[in-house]
Amino acid sequence: MVTAEAPLPPLPYATPPDWAAAMVPDLGTLLLDQAHLEKKAAAGALAFLFRVPGGADVQRALSALAREELVHFERTLRLLAQRGLPFAPLQPGRYAERLKAAVRSTMPHRLADELLVAAIIEARSCERMAAMAAALRAVDAEAAAFYGELGEAEARHEALYVQLAALLLPADALAARWRELGAHEAAVLAVLPRQPRLHSGTGSGA
Ligand SMILES: [Fe+2]
Ligand SMILES: [Fe+2]
Repeated sequence: MVTAEAPLPPLPYATPPDWAAAMVPDLGTLLLDQAHLEKKAAAGALAFLFRVPGGADVQRALSALAREELVHFERTLRLLAQRGLPFAPLQPGRYAERLKAAVRSTMPHRLADELLVAAIIEARSCERMAAMAAALRAVDAEAAAFYGELGEAEARHEALYVQLAALLLPADALAARWRELGAHEAAVLAVLPRQPRLHSGTGSGA
């Protein structure tokens, strides 16, 4: 696996400090959203396994990532079941769809952008799950521990997707595209509505 170049800057959007506390009353919906997100994350990693060029090290890293996301999915299903909450369809938020609208259409830029979007989603998940862990600590220790444990993995996943994008773009182009996609993500979150989803926005909706 490639080693990371100079670390990329943090995403420009920072979730407001009151976001997680506002989500706590809708924890059941948020956990159901989490189950769907983990399943999608596994599917995304598996899709990259077939598309990202590279040798056994790349294949092994993506295979392990897909497996870890499935473990997260099963862990979330367990927590739902313990709480008597059924696994059911849930209208997804539009965050990922809006992010992907910025992906360029020609290769290798298309795949590099898809990997960077995946990295951004992992980074945002990491930030939001840490915020949920902190907000829940005093009121629901079990859910706080759940978010804390799963959220830690997301930082590693972000790093892997950035490393894979670095196989496709020179370092300066990678950094420039990261900044562009980060600005796009900030604009998306500013518009998407507040609702009980891990990737909810802080706008009034569009
Ligand atoms: Fe995960
Ligand atoms: Fe992840």
